[in-house]
Amino acid sequence: MQVEFFKHNIDEGDIANAAEALRGTFLTTGAWVERFERDLAEFTGRSFAVGLTSGTAGLHLALSALGVGPGDEVITTPMSFVATANAVILSGARPVFVDVEPETGNLDAGLVEAAVTDRTKAILPVHLYGVMCDMKRLGEVARRRGLFLVEDAAHALEARRDGIAPGEVSNAAVLSFYATKSITSGEGGAVVTDDADLAARLRILRLHGMSKGAAERHGGPWEHYDMPVVGWKYNMSNIQAAILVGQLPRVHAMRARREEIAGRYREGLAGISGLAAPSIPQGCLSAHHLFTIHVAPCRRDAVLADLVAGGIGVAVNYRAIHLMKYYRETFSFAEGMFPAAEAIGASTISLPLYPKLTDEEVDYVIGAVRESIKG
Ligand SMILES: Cc1ncc(COP(=O)(O)O)c(C=O)c1O
Repeated sequence: MQVEFFKHNIDEGDIANAAEALRGTFLTTGAWVERFERDLAEFTGRSFAVGLTSGTAGLHLALSALGVGPGDEVITTPMSFVATANAVILSGARPVFVDVEPETGNLDAGLVEAAVTDRTKAILPVHLYGVMCDMKRLGEVARRRGLFLVEDAAHALEARRDGIAPGEVSNAAVLSFYATKSITSGEGGAVVTDDADLAARLRILRLHGMSKGAAERHGGPWEHYDMPVVGWKYNMSNIQAAILVGQLPRVHAMRARREEIAGRYREGLAGISGLAAPSIPQGCLSAHHLFTIHVAPCRRDAVLADLVAGGIGVAVNYRAIHLMKYYRETFSFAEGMFPAAEAIGASTISLPLYPKLTDEEVDYVIGAVRESIKG
């Protein structure tokens, strides 16, 4: 049997929307993007959504639009995709890592305040695998210490914790529509926020810092644009938005199927000695973005190899960021500094998790994991 690591859920309706966008004359940021932004803001319960080329662009832009820059520190997690900490570096600031909770892999909110210095400008938590960080607690720390709070919600479009949605108690939440995300246009991203000024700055900074985009310049009488600030080229295209807009109404049903699959994995993998899985704290509605298991570090790569040999797509989400060559050499990070993140990084394996996965495929994966671990 061959079990792909991921299959997307782009359907015929999404393809028809993309075809309609392509048959139109306006391919860059225009009416499709406006429609997607309106629907995304409504879906997330935020006042504004700003469509971008990627989640990485969103992280960089959100930090920069809040004024984070050289000389500043941003507190974040070493247990994430490198994009999170890289975005801090792109903004000109320095990433300051705080270790994670061993049970969830999420930034340990109880350790954050001790890492605040007079250079700290923002906290950048990541809702790992779809389980949100303790936003109540992080929100309190940010308010008390006068810090910006930006959420990396790349895994958590549809997640909640204590009834709180991404972007609800922070300055902004950043979403990704990368190829393996719950809704996707291959590449894409967005920032959602309730802050009208921030949304306006994001719109200007996503397009070079220009006062008008192409849609505004070509809609009516001729008007010159000005460029009050220098920005980036991060604007979402009409093609991306057309692919995405029809996926939003299916998000909750797709989450429900992933939850079912995660439950089947948990049951099927229960009671195996030497195998554990991250837990989901009380009050969390997980987006179930990824299903990961932990095995003994000395066995991890052998289990990965066995699963690949059995035709199963796997991934490692993630090896700890501070141990990557660039981070070690640039910031003198070393082993032992963030033990909980390092332990996850050395033991984690991601199994296939997507709505199109059949129960038979899930059972095959469970069997292959059992077999490999016994070996
Ligand atoms: C946790 C996390 N943050 C940020 C990103 C970056 O998003 P993008 O690939 O859309 O730039 C990703 C994944 O792709 C991610 O998984």
